[in-house]
Amino acid sequence: MRVPLIAGNWKMHKTEAEAIALVRVLLQRVRFYSGVEVLICPPFTSLSQLHKLLVSSPILLGAQNISDLPSGAFTGEISGRMAAEFCSHVILGHSERRAYYGEDDALINRKVKAAREWGLLPILCVGESLSERDAGQASAVISRQLRGALEGVWISDPAEMVIAYEPVWAIGTDRSASPEDISEMIASVIRPGLAGQWGVEFAGGIRVLYGGSVNPGNAAGYFNQPEIDGALVGGASLSAEKFLAIIERTQ
Ligand code: PGA
Repeated sequence: MRVPLIAGNWKMHKTEAEAIALVRVLLQRVRFYSGVEVLICPPFTSLSQLHKLLVSSPILLGAQNISDLPSGAFTGEISGRMAAEFCSHVILGHSERRAYYGEDDALINRKVKAAREWGLLPILCVGESLSERDAGQASAVISRQLRGALEGVWISDPAEMVIAYEPVWAIGTDRSASPEDISEMIASVIRPGLAGQWGVEFAGGIRVLYGGSVNPGNAAGYFNQPEIDGALVGGASLSAEKFLAIIERTQ
């Protein structure tokens, strides 16, 4: 039984004061929903304060990135150990990290291992670009990203790993992918890829989210698909009303 997960990726938005204000609104309402996990991933600068606010609440806290390295002279980096002081989850392999910061599958693999070492639950993002999709390479790209990021990664429970399928052309563009297409890609490429790594039974227990322009209007269409176990929400997670409405669509 895979519990749906709704994760908010705030990206480079919200000061600490803005983050606290948004979380206070979420806290008033989130306890009315059941059978769903709710996670927010704010910028690093708000993690310490939000951790204090959320520590005995149903809202989970995640980081948007970590270094692959444990410590040292790496200006601007945050280690898995530091993130694990405040967070239970970490987003890794996001297409923006791949495209703007040159993260390749080998680096993402080291980051996944670093996350596991510190007990952080990785939300591993995979997804093809528009040109890759148009060239008929979507399945091959996703399989390669999964294999590369998960090579040598060991988990003892399927709940310790989450995959987010985010077609790059659907992120922040208002051009969401159809629920049927997403479901098909999960069933025919992502779950078989996970099964190759950990076996069919384990793969069946790993949650696979959809991400890319999810909003209150289209969320139910995704959540009605048995293969889709929730969403990684960018833009719409910056508004308490929209994010709560998306969570509500799982009920
Ligand atoms: P979006 O972002 O919902 O704004 O498309 C999703 C993501 O990048 O995780």
